[in-house]
Amino acid sequence: MPITLPPINRRCFVTGTLSGVVSLLFPSVWGAESVLPSQDVWAFLSDTHIPADRKKNGGKQPINPVEHFIKIRTDILSGEIGRPYGLIVSGDCVYSHGLPEDYKTLLEEFQPFREQGLPVHFAMGNHDNRQAFLNAVAQATGQQTPQTIPSRLHSIVETPKANFFLLDSLEKTNQTPGLFGEEQLQWLSDELDSRRDKPAILVAHHNPDYSRHIIKATVALQDTTPFFELIRERKQVKAYFYGHTHTWQTLRVGGIHMINLPATAWLSNPTQTHAWVLLTLKDNGISLTFRSIDPEHPKHNKVFDFVWR
Ligand SMILES: [Fe+2]
Repeated sequence: MPITLPPINRRCFVTGTLSGVVSLLFPSVWGAESVLPSQDVWAFLSDTHIPADRKKNGGKQPINPVEHFIKIRTDILSGEIGRPYGLIVSGDCVYSHGLPEDYKTLLEEFQPFREQGLPVHFAMGNHDNRQAFLNAVAQATGQQTPQTIPSRLHSIVETPKANFFLLDSLEKTNQTPGLFGEEQLQWLSDELDSRRDKPAILVAHHNPDYSRHIIKATVALQDTTPFFELIRERKQVKAYFYGHTHTWQTLRVGGIHMINLPATAWLSNPTQTHAWVLLTLKDNGISLTFRSIDPEHPKHNKVFDFVWR
């Protein structure tokens, strides 16, 4: 079961003519001369930590998560560096305890994306709550509240150049470590085996445990070992995106790109910056354009290229 916020005008998208689609999808921001956004281009965000109260601050060096998110939303919708087809948010969507009122504010703040025709796909972080999130999405989209909540919420977003696998590493709300669990790893294994023909890009919240020398194991993904065994031997897996550490970092494990997304909320240290990335799929890899809310930050607008193994 996915957590997806569909565009408000999806119906128009399905039934409209090409010119009608353009104007309906992008009535004001993208302009009448716009073309349909490419499925090769996506906005990736992490750790938005939106609280119910828009005035609330958070973090060791307190900042206002809603104010920072609005700056990032404005940047994405400006289309200055390209028009994403949709958004992927890699968890810790709300403040701390996954409260229903937090999700109400979260979905209100994401509403402008829906209005501009962009679907938003969310992954669960350790500060999320599955039931509260699904209930809020059902309410916001006029659907029935789900009767049963699966133990993990995972989904696949298929595009012409690659398949995105959204995984769920939430073990217990407001406790730091994460766990995929055997059942989800079996699902991932089966789904990867039936999709060998296209690059697979995996997305979840928790950072892998890199043998304890980068991040302490107690705050990372507890089932890193079986996860790595699973993905290393499936050569279509090219990249794993995650958040959790509120730190931008990239490295390679077994030829797979490990990409730690920056947070939009509070920072892990003052050298980091509130940011998002624009992902562009290529035939043999991806490029990521780093967008800070601080235009003077040294990484702002830098493009990082990753070639597939
Ligand atoms: Fe976080």
